Amino acid sequence: MSEQREMKEASPGYRTVTIFVAGIAVIALVALVTVGVLQNKPLPQKYKYGIVMDAGSSHTALYIYQWPAEKDNNTGRVTQTDSCRVDGPGISSYASNPRGAGESLGDCMLKARQAVPSSRHGETPLYLGATAGMRLLNIENASASDAVFQAVEAALHSSPFSFRGARILSGQEEGAFGWVTVNYLDDRLTQGQETTGALDLGGASTQISFVSARFDGTESPHNLMTFRLYGNDYNLYTHSYLCYGKDQALRKMLALQTASGPTSLSDPCFHPGYIRTRDYSELYASPCVARSKPQASPRNFTLKGTGDFDSCRTAVKKIFDFSKCNFSRCSFNGVFQPELQGSFGAFSAYYFVLDFLNLTDTSAPMETIKDKLREYCATPWADMQRQHPSTKVKYLAEYCFSGTYILTLLTEGYNFTADTFKEITIIRKIKGSDAGWTLGYMLNLTNMIPAEAPDAPPAAPRRLRVHHGAHGPAAGGPSPLHHLHPQQDSVLQPAQDRMS
Ligand SMILES: *[C@@H]1O[C@H](CO)[C@@H](O)[C@H](O)[C@H]1NC(C)=O
Ligand SMILES: *[C@@H]1O[C@H](CO)[C@@H](O)[C@H](O)[C@H]1NC(C)=O
Ligand SMILES: *[C@@H]1O[C@H](CO)[C@@H](O)[C@H](O)[C@H]1NC(C)=O
Ligand SMILES: *[C@@H]1O[C@H](CO)[C@@H](O)[C@H](O)[C@H]1NC(C)=O
Ligand SMILES: *[C@@H]1O[C@H](CO)[C@@H](O)[C@H](O)[C@H]1NC(C)=O
Ligand SMILES: *[C@@H]1O[C@H](CO)[C@@H](O)[C@H](O)[C@H]1NC(C)=O
Ligand SMILES: *[C@@H]1O[C@H](CO)[C@@H](O)[C@H](O)[C@H]1NC(C)=O
Repeated sequence: MSEQREMKEASPGYRTVTIFVAGIAVIALVALVTVGVLQNKPLPQKYKYGIVMDAGSSHTALYIYQWPAEKDNNTGRVTQTDSCRVDGPGISSYASNPRGAGESLGDCMLKARQAVPSSRHGETPLYLGATAGMRLLNIENASASDAVFQAVEAALHSSPFSFRGARILSGQEEGAFGWVTVNYLDDRLTQGQETTGALDLGGASTQISFVSARFDGTESPHNLMTFRLYGNDYNLYTHSYLCYGKDQALRKMLALQTASGPTSLSDPCFHPGYIRTRDYSELYASPCVARSKPQASPRNFTLKGTGDFDSCRTAVKKIFDFSKCNFSRCSFNGVFQPELQGSFGAFSAYYFVLDFLNLTDTSAPMETIKDKLREYCATPWADMQRQHPSTKVKYLAEYCFSGTYILTLLTEGYNFTADTFKEITIIRKIKGSDAGWTLGYMLNLTNMIPAEAPDAPPAAPRRLRVHHGAHGPAAGGPSPLHHLHPQQDSVLQPAQDRMS
């Protein structure tokens, strides 16, 4: 470097050239700024943006992503710059007031308008994806779910962004895009490194996705998603269990406990001293449990907590059916699952529940985790409320159940053992971006992950190519611009996915 510099300085014309170039640069800069100021236009923005709304069963969240504008064909790194949690419940709760669903998004849309430079608004894609809450509403009352979508679409169409449609994601898409997100953020795709499995837990469904050397889709084709990313092929195993998100799982457990229609219930999954009146018709107002509603029951029952972790585990275990399996091996409910392989990232409610319980350290011995949960569940309700005055009572009441459910799902359901449990990392964010399906979804719809490695000849279209197994849509699948109609939903959804 210094040698080169000496050579240049030794050459006679160098100084003149330098001054000349610097002068031109200054003039150009002044001209650029002047034009910008005169025309009252901001200088070119460094970044492009994309927005995805995650319409979950319990709430809606908005994520804003950015990537360098100057990179060719949007190959620059995508990161999350902002997020916003919509106040109030998920859009599926607005079945009797669809307009409310659209209105609920207003505050977050305003925040997005402020976060994205206005010169970029018109070109910024905006997507809304709904998951299991809307899958359930669609099963329960398709016209109500259509009305909710219409209201949401009207609200998003009136935003300054380039609205590209609202639709229900299939369970496979939700699982697969979560897996893409985690591995993209971890930089495991460009290098063709070993990938991380993804464990996602929501309110109404839960997903497990991982690459297994022993799984090529022959045994259970609808659990297969194949990807070609940066020149590497992946056979991804993925399954979404509808009704096994933490809120619907709680309903299922309560439904089994109240099958005979009692007036009171002693429940080990709630703290001692916890007491609450529950309405039968409210508890059973979900397709996950509707069919098991007792023929004759009073209007209410009294739920009394006893705070016993071990009995709670026994009660939780009953919502899993281990009795039948038509494959070489199953997780539960007759669903095929290959042997677990590699490391896993667990996010969404896995994170929020285990973080609250201070149990995110999966390297701790399983017995220690159980002991802590046992102690937690046994803590009297009055003490809980005293210790956590700012936590919403509904959430505070359900952490004992949720923690026990997570442990049971992972160990009994998915077959994580004391050893393989250590392969799970509980994550919220990776390098500042939330783990979840939204980023993977946007990367696919904006063609931001090439099928081929950057230097390879473009043998395949520059797109994240996703093929389903026998039951999936052919290459391309349904138009991403429209949400699914009920009859199409049955094409995308494997039978086990629909109901328990
Ligand atoms: C960008 O995409 C276009 C067409 O999609 C292609 O012709 C061009 O080679 C790509 N550029 C780079 C740098 O990959
Ligand atoms: C479905 O929802 C609509 C409101 O959007 C309501 O009018 C109708 O009664 C519901 N149907 C059933 C069967 O619940
Ligand atoms: C059921 O609970 C509601 C309020 O939670 C109460 O008004 C009603 O009297 C209760 N009904 C019975 C039969 O206990
Ligand atoms: C297993 O196969 C039998 C016979 O083909 C069928 O009746 C049953 O529903 C299947 N069970 C599951 C869990 O898929
Ligand atoms: C988790 O740890 C924090 C800090 O040590 C403590 O304040 C909080 O009460 C703990 N939460 C639970 C549920 O034990
Ligand atoms: C559960 O995991 C153990 C140990 O990893 C393995 O030996 C066993 O085959 C697995 N069982 C099923 C049903 O996958
Ligand atoms: C990925 O995006 C394309 C459109 O670019 C779409 O046709 C395809 O269905 C998407 N894949 C999935 C699994 O949604």
